[in-house]
Amino acid sequence: MTAACDPGLPSQGHAPAPTTAADEFDALFHGEAHRRAFSRACHLADPALPPDVEPFSFLSADLLHHIAAALALTEDSTLADLGCGRGGPGLWLARTAHARLVGIDFSPVAVAQAQHRATTLGVGDRAHFAVGDLTATGLPDASVSAAVSIDALQYAHDHTAAAAETRRILRPGGRLVITGWHPRQHGDPRLPDRHRHTHWPTVLRAAGFSTVECHDRPAWSDTYLRIYRTALQQGDPGRDVALAGLQGEARRRLPTAHLLRRVAITAC
Ligand SMILES: C[S@@+](CC[C@H](N)C(=O)[O-])C[C@H]1O[C@@H](n2cnc3c(N)ncnc32)[C@H](O)[C@@H]1O
Repeated sequence: MTAACDPGLPSQGHAPAPTTAADEFDALFHGEAHRRAFSRACHLADPALPPDVEPFSFLSADLLHHIAAALALTEDSTLADLGCGRGGPGLWLARTAHARLVGIDFSPVAVAQAQHRATTLGVGDRAHFAVGDLTATGLPDASVSAAVSIDALQYAHDHTAAAAETRRILRPGGRLVITGWHPRQHGDPRLPDRHRHTHWPTVLRAAGFSTVECHDRPAWSDTYLRIYRTALQQGDPGRDVALAGLQGEARRRLPTAHLLRRVAITAC
């Protein structure tokens, strides 16, 4: 584990983070399908992001390539994308490696859009999406060779249960890569409660992962801030619920966003 990701304190014993319900995500994904506000902000903030990725997350090209390298997928791999949203990042990762993909999300709207995108991209036979929870994916034991969860695991009502579910579906030796945020200073009282004590390596070890590596790059945190600023520069969202949501989040989070560090954790 890199020193920068280690706040030196355990993260257990704190109240679970408040979560966002599936129907709230359904409404956001309806809006995103029509206007692409979130993904447009991502692509404007980082023009190097491959055009068809269209994330609903704070992804940059550099972070996407880091994830691809960490997963080390091959043609024989089956990748699980947990909290897959509209499917773009998982589809890019799987297509680039000619791997199979199974995406899980609790938003039926997101799952339908992801399956449609797979068909449009001509990989509908190698990419399957299903409604499921991060803590109960419905996938069989040891059924996937790798798993990714991009900015999603923090929404699980029980982080350790979600990590344990991921471990259950992974074949022995299979790798998980997750992205999220750590406080730059553990317990920082200026941060919202849900971010103050986050330390994903502790959660992943508690779930049974034995090898855990945490990575961060300043450019990932810079892109996170730039996506918020780009969204605010879009002006009046009108009836665009996804842009309105992102702008509201940007106004709430920007004052303390610099106190967070964007991280990617690889575990097996
Ligand atoms: C920030 S979005 C990321 C989407 C996608 N990974 C991407 O990069 O575009 C978080 C996703 O997690 C999903 N999610 C949140 N809580 C969940 C849960 N308990 N079970 C399954 N999916 C969940 C949401 O529906 C949403 O699609």
